[in-house]
Amino acid sequence: MKHTLLNKISSRSATIGIIGLGYVGLPLMLRFAEAGYKVLGFDLDQHKIKKLLAGQSYIKHIPSTAIVAAVDARLFNGTTDFSRAGEADALIICVPTPLNKFREPDLSFVLNSTDALVPYLRPGQIISLESTTYPGTTDEELLPRVESRGLTVGKDIFLAFSPEREDPGNEKFSTRTIPKVCGGVTPACLEVSLALYGAVIDRVVSVSSTRAAEMTKLLENIHRAVNIGLVNELKIVCDAMDIDIREVIDAAATKPYGFTPYYPGPGLGGNCIPIDPFNHSIVCNRTIIFIDRNKSIKFFKIINSLLKFMHIQMPHCAK
Ligand SMILES: NC(=O)c1ccc[n+]([C@@H]2O[C@H](COP(=O)([O-])OP(=O)(O)OC[C@H]3O[C@@H](n4cnc5c(N)ncnc54)[C@H](O)[C@@H]3O)[C@@H](O)[C@H]2O)c1
Repeated sequence: MKHTLLNKISSRSATIGIIGLGYVGLPLMLRFAEAGYKVLGFDLDQHKIKKLLAGQSYIKHIPSTAIVAAVDARLFNGTTDFSRAGEADALIICVPTPLNKFREPDLSFVLNSTDALVPYLRPGQIISLESTTYPGTTDEELLPRVESRGLTVGKDIFLAFSPEREDPGNEKFSTRTIPKVCGGVTPACLEVSLALYGAVIDRVVSVSSTRAAEMTKLLENIHRAVNIGLVNELKIVCDAMDIDIREVIDAAATKPYGFTPYYPGPGLGGNCIPIDPFNHSIVCNRTIIFIDRNKSIKFFKIINSLLKFMHIQMPHCAK
């Protein structure tokens, strides 16, 4: 199974199914089409599918010309019908992972889309989750669902996690040039995942597990959230002392190592800062029993306070 799928990927005869055609799924689908793959987009939103089939973009920074090119090349198709999942050799899930009213990760979109795919899974496919989520989601939630179809992951079918790093509107980087981290449930899953993304993305980076890949994304987001929270606090202090925070950050950024500049502001840009770092709270709630309570809880509480501070203080810091 693995070799057949790898051959289809390398010969560009594989069909790539993308589930969830939003800010993450649509550019990824266009990138696969640009590289010559047939793509099949799945979304619950009939309106989006109609627009795409008519060659129209519904995302401001994605030009309709890119969609028209894929449609004209007869590489593009879109549907709301999940029974077509068997047509795809790769199924890449890019659905939302919002927070519920308790600010806990809401996995319902990921689980609903997986459940909708399961009846149509077949041997020789790879399923790759890209939605930002807490470590453990792929092997605890997706693996049993996929195997409930009677397929063995790593042998009949392949399962991976590869976090999305899309930065909508950033003109310096494109889907192709943003390195992609991949983690597989088994070594064979990792191999197929690296081949899939490596076919369309300049640099793929392997990690040893889906959990490591899930945690990588959280680290990136928490790192930004904490540091944006820090400069937002410093801005308030600097304002009170009549110091220009930007001048200070730019001066500090001349240090050639050990400092990354972050600027005051809400830190928005997709879900990454206002929403995704809260995924860490489920990690700490689940892991806390294994670690030194006094030290570790304090660390996680500091992160939580910073995140809450950012939510409350954003209007002041964005000035
Ligand atoms: N937008 C970003 O900048 C960004 C960056 C990195 C990571 N992410 C992560 O990527 C994931 C997707 O984010 P997004 O910004 O593309 O979301 P989005 O809301 O723009 O798009 C999600 C799409 O999924 C569709 N959808 C919802 N449920 C579905 C289902 N069951 N089956 C099929 N389609 C379904 C929606 O109709 C929508 O078109 C999230 O986990 C997000 O945290 C987003």
